[in-house]
Amino acid sequence: MSDENHIRPRVNGPLRCTGDVEVCDADGNLLRSGSEVELCRCGQSKNKPFCDGSHAEADFESDGIFSGVTSEELSESGPLRLIVHDNAGLLAHGPMTIYSSDGNFSVTRTDVALCRCGQSANKPFCDITHKECQFEG
Ligand code: FES
Repeated sequence: MSDENHIRPRVNGPLRCTGDVEVCDADGNLLRSGSEVELCRCGQSKNKPFCDGSHAEADFESDGIFSGVTSEELSESGPLRLIVHDNAGLLAHGPMTIYSSDGNFSVTRTDVALCRCGQSANKPFCDITHKECQFEG
């Protein structure tokens, strides 16, 4: 079991991913790897999928607080792979713990879809609103 990969939405800011992190495109090409990566979740970065600070200019608002998500038991170890899909969200795969920004809730998962368009009503998770808002990225 691994408890080394963590995702935490920052208040009004990006997704902070730490651990053994790999960011790939939908074809599996590695875009970046490292122990800490910050990914855009406001939809406004000019360097998507990475955060470039545009959330401040865009007045992005998201408190990063969530609850009520069911945990999965983490039986595998390995990297956290974040797969970026064109005009859609991020698919996160691998053992991970996702924390609410206030630290009051966390959930363990091996697969989850995360919002990067900034419009989901269920942030930090993708709820398919990217189709409705015609997100490009
Ligand atoms: S990427 Fe935002 S709802 Fe899917």
